[in-house]
Amino acid sequence: MITNKQWIYRRQPVGQITTDHYELVEQAMDTTLADGEVLIASRYFSVDPYMRIGQSSKPTYDAEAHPLNTVQQGGVVAQVLASRAEGYVEGDWVQSYTGWQTHARVHASALKRLDPAVAPVTTALGVLGMPGRTAWFGLTESGRPHAGEVVVVSGAAGAVGSLVVQFAKRHGARVLGIAGGAAKCAWLRDALGADWAIDYKAFSNADALGAEIKRLTGGVDVYFDNVGGMVTDAVIPLINRRARIVICGQISQYSGGLEAPELGPRLLHHMLYQRATIQGMLARDYLHRMDEMIRIVAPWVRAGEIVFEETVIDGFEQLPSALNSLFTGDHRGKLLVKA
Ligand SMILES: NC(=O)c1ccc[n+]([C@@H]2O[C@H](COP(=O)([O-])OP(=O)(O)OC[C@H]3O[C@@H](n4cnc5c(N)ncnc54)[C@H](OP(=O)(O)O)[C@@H]3O)[C@@H](O)[C@H]2O)c1
Repeated sequence: MITNKQWIYRRQPVGQITTDHYELVEQAMDTTLADGEVLIASRYFSVDPYMRIGQSSKPTYDAEAHPLNTVQQGGVVAQVLASRAEGYVEGDWVQSYTGWQTHARVHASALKRLDPAVAPVTTALGVLGMPGRTAWFGLTESGRPHAGEVVVVSGAAGAVGSLVVQFAKRHGARVLGIAGGAAKCAWLRDALGADWAIDYKAFSNADALGAEIKRLTGGVDVYFDNVGGMVTDAVIPLINRRARIVICGQISQYSGGLEAPELGPRLLHHMLYQRATIQGMLARDYLHRMDEMIRIVAPWVRAGEIVFEETVIDGFEQLPSALNSLFTGDHRGKLLVKA
């Protein structure tokens, strides 16, 4: 008999997410497997900003919000405990989308096998997973940087942003990373190779931040936006002719701002002046090209040419507070929770 622990999503948040919006439930689990099924034990949980978007009361890219009173959905790296599926044996590492629960019975067709000899299994939730796919296709298909161009990345020290910084450098661009705090900025320059880094928290308004971006870069050819808000207000007036703006995320707006959007400065005249383009991109649109990204990026990972830092929080009980920390915390790279 196995006791399955689950974080159940109970209440829709209005602003910041807290543990009040979840309930930890423990119950005995029926481990009887049907043909083709596998019993898995979750080892690592992905914690992602899209989880907060899914709790929005307004329509988003999904027709329906995350249903209440169900297990919080999310990506997981797990190990097989028992199997009635061909090719899966106890101890195998897999990736699944079984959410915030310690165990799950799942059909093998919903699993992706992981080989720890090829790359650390946690990379399936980071550099070789959804964040890597977002960074790679967002930059190469929407941003399309050329050597010598200026690429500005907001949220630059996070899971997606830290990869965009490095991918842009590999394209020969000059890269400015924008992140919160001096320590993150030092990391962007020293470990990731950003040409410049700015701590947006040191600026009280978009004009002052924009003046510093202008002083460092002269102007912006590609803006890879993960955060929106004041940072974006600062960057848009600085775009160069035929700039490309990639809207990957708007995390500054997720905790309440999706329901009641702030009205910022109207900046679209800059798009007109500079014949610029602005494009939203979603990782799920590139799911069918996952192997293409892995073929390119995995050799860099194996050769140690890409920094793919992971911040791992210990303990299944920490999941809701880990999600909250995406909006307030200090993590660098990909945020994971270890069971
Ligand atoms: N389009 C897609 O398919 C797709 C896929 C994955 C992720 N995304 C988006 O990409 C963005 C980054 O996701 P991620 O998984 O890589 O998360 P992450 O960057 O690892 O974590 C979130 C970071 O956002 C920053 N942040 C939080 N609140 C902020 C605010 N009010 N203003 C400015 N920065 C703020 C924090 O860094 P600081 O300490 O630097 O403030 C925090 O560490 C999110 O907006 C997410 O929704 C989009």
